[in-house]
Formats: sequence, structure tokens, C-alpha cells
Amino acid sequence: MNTRTVTEELTEVVLPGTVEPEGLQIRHGAVPTAGPGQVLIRTEATGVSFAEQQMRRGRYYDQPPFPFVPGYDLVGTVLATGEDVDPALAGQRVAALVKVGGWASHVLVEAADTVPVPDGIGAAEAETVVVNGITAWQMLHRKARVRAGQTILVHGANGGVGSVLVQLAQAAGVKVIGTASARHHDALRERGVSPVDYRTGDIPAQVRALAPGGVDAVFDHVGGRGITDSWRLLAPGGTLVSYGSAATRDDAGSKQWPVFKLLARIWLWNALPNRRSAYFFNVWAGRAFSKPRFRSRLRTDLTHVFTAVTRGEVTPQIAATFPLTAAPEAIRLAESGTAAGKVILTP
Ligand SMILES: NC(=O)c1ccc[n+]([C@@H]2O[C@H](COP(=O)([O-])OP(=O)(O)OC[C@H]3O[C@@H](n4cnc5c(N)ncnc54)[C@H](OP(=O)(O)O)[C@@H]3O)[C@@H](O)[C@H]2O)c1
Repeated sequence: MNTRTVTEELTEVVLPGTVEPEGLQIRHGAVPTAGPGQVLIRTEATGVSFAEQQMRRGRYYDQPPFPFVPGYDLVGTVLATGEDVDPALAGQRVAALVKVGGWASHVLVEAADTVPVPDGIGAAEAETVVVNGITAWQMLHRKARVRAGQTILVHGANGGVGSVLVQLAQAAGVKVIGTASARHHDALRERGVSPVDYRTGDIPAQVRALAPGGVDAVFDHVGGRGITDSWRLLAPGGTLVSYGSAATRDDAGSKQWPVFKLLARIWLWNALPNRRSAYFFNVWAGRAFSKPRFRSRLRTDLTHVFTAVTRGEVTPQIAATFPLTAAPEAIRLAESGTAAGKVILTP
């Protein structure tokens, strides 16, 4: 055990209930002690994901009861190690996926859930590809299993997950059609993406004009009625990966219902005789079935993503950086629809 005394103070952001961003609270306290199997991480960067935008509305389908500290992922340095943890981990920069709890200056994480960040990648840069990168990688390579020469449709191609997905796909030799608001189209064209405006016009017609035989995979975080178009746009042998329900973010009613509806549709489509397949992907879900498999895939896949960053295949996109205590401004910016890339919080 690394017994270095920690004389710092804990600062964390608390989501007390369903609140506007200004309702987030700052709490100070004692830095926790790493227990058996755990490491204490001093956070260097965390960020705003779509999940926090849904959680503050009480709309994330498996969020914990209020109050809690949000924050899906983080990058930081191991400050102390608990019993049964290799003390050599102390001082290393690591990334972790935590689902909640990341918006804190110090976070306890199971050592087995950390992934080393290679030298040469800064904390904020690494943070842009933790939940976004692992989600993009696993959907591309574990679900759709894309191959060079294929064409895919990425909804929200300029978003946090979407922009990493686009770059990883291109690195694999895949052509990308991407939906986005018109203001992002020039940037997408510069990156070699064929843009489609999801706000105006007929999305399926625009995609068919670009890929008359259909696309090999669709990555859909929007859900709602449009998921049926995503399914119909698949070429024979194609794969739909549904991974969110952004269309229902502001709806009232059950937060689980939109996901159940997606799951039911996917089940039905897979049951019908056809040559296409559909999945609902959740980056955290596999943890409930097998922690060792989840951890091993997290480590392998996130390491692939970091390698892609090191090689210049993926360029980290930081929209803005705020101090942790400015989380309300950070979440407002993330929700404004004007940010390009990840909004970062630094304690
Ligand atoms: N299942 C999982 O494991 C998992 C993991 C991570 C994220 N997610 C989901 O992934 C989604 C994106 O997260 P993020 O952090 O990347 O969010 P983000 O950075 O805020 O990006 C959201 C993107 O969605 C686009 N968008 C919004 N409405 C759209 C619509 N109707 N059609 C097409 N695009 C639309 C926006 O496009 P414009 O800016 O061009 O308007 C933006 O590019 C969220 O729904 C989140 O819940 C799921």
C-alpha cells in the first residue's frame, strides 16, 4: 500500500435533483482513502457528456437516485494505491470510465478499471476520447465490424462520439456520410465526410442519393421515429447500431420507455427474416455480465484509441475548458449545440 499522506481538499460537483445547470452545487470535503483494490486519482480532466445533460433532467435511463456526483469519465494521476494494488501505479496518468462520480477533484476507482494514458497525450486531449472513444471503437469494431471500402452513416457526425467514430472509421478505410446541422458541414467536408442536414429535408432521400445501394452500417444516437429510417437505409448484410435516444431528451414521462421501445424494435427486426442486423449498444452494460471481460475490452480498446491519437488518426477536439467549479457554464455550453468537440472540466 502507498501510504503517502494526502493533505489536499476534495472538491466535487453535486447534482441535487432535476435542476437547471445553475442548480448544480459545489461541495468540499476530505479526500477519501483508497481501500483494498482501489486507487485514488487526482483528476486532471473530466468532461461534459450527453449523459450529464440527460441526468440533470432526470432522463438518463439508469441514473442513480439524486443527489449524486455526475461525470461519466476522467483522466488523472494516481495519487495513492490501496491494499493489493501495485504501488508502482502511483504517479501514473490513467483514464477511467465511472458513469457517475467523475466531476470531482479526487476519485476512488478500482485499480482494474483504469487504463494507462500513453506519454505524449495531454490530460484534456485524452479526456476527449475516453467515453467517446471507447463507445466509437466498440460500436465500429465489435458491433458493426466495419471493413475497408464500406460506406457508413454516422448521425451527429460532428458530436463528441460522432467525430471520433468518423475518424476511426476513416482510419479503417471506410467512407462516411454524416448527419449534422448545416453550420458544421464545411468542417465535415474538410474531413472527407459527405454531410447531410438532419434539420431540413428528407434524410433518407439525401443518404440514398449518396449511397443508392444502401449503407453498410448506421450509427444512430437519435432514436425516436427516425430509427426506422436508419434500419431501412441498410444495404443487405448491413448493421444498425442504436446507442441513444437524443430525440426524447426533453420529453416527459418514463425515462426507460424510449429505450424499451428501441430494444423492442431491434428485437423484432432481428427476428424477421432479413440479411441485416441491429444492436442496442451501451458502453457500460457489459460490466453487469462480466467485470473481467468488460475490463479487458476496455483496456484493449481504449489503448487502440489512444494509439490512433498518437498516430494522428484521431485529433482530439476540445470545445472549451472550464474549471470544475464552473460546471454550470460548461453544461450550458455543451447543451447550446454550438460547441464543436468536448467541453472539458479541470479541477
Ligand atoms: N450507448 C452508449 O454507450 C453511449 C455512450 C456515449 C454516448 N452515447 C450517446 O451518444 C449521443 C451523443 O453523445 P455526445 O456526448 O457525442 O453528444 P454531443 O457531443 O452533444 O453531440 C450530440 C450530437 O448530436 C447531434 N444531433 C442532435 N440531434 C440530432 C438529430 N435529430 N439527428 C442527428 N444528429 C443530431 C448534434 O448535431 P449538431 O451539433 O450538428 O446539431 C451533435 O453532433 C447521446 O445520445 C449519448 O447518450 C451513448
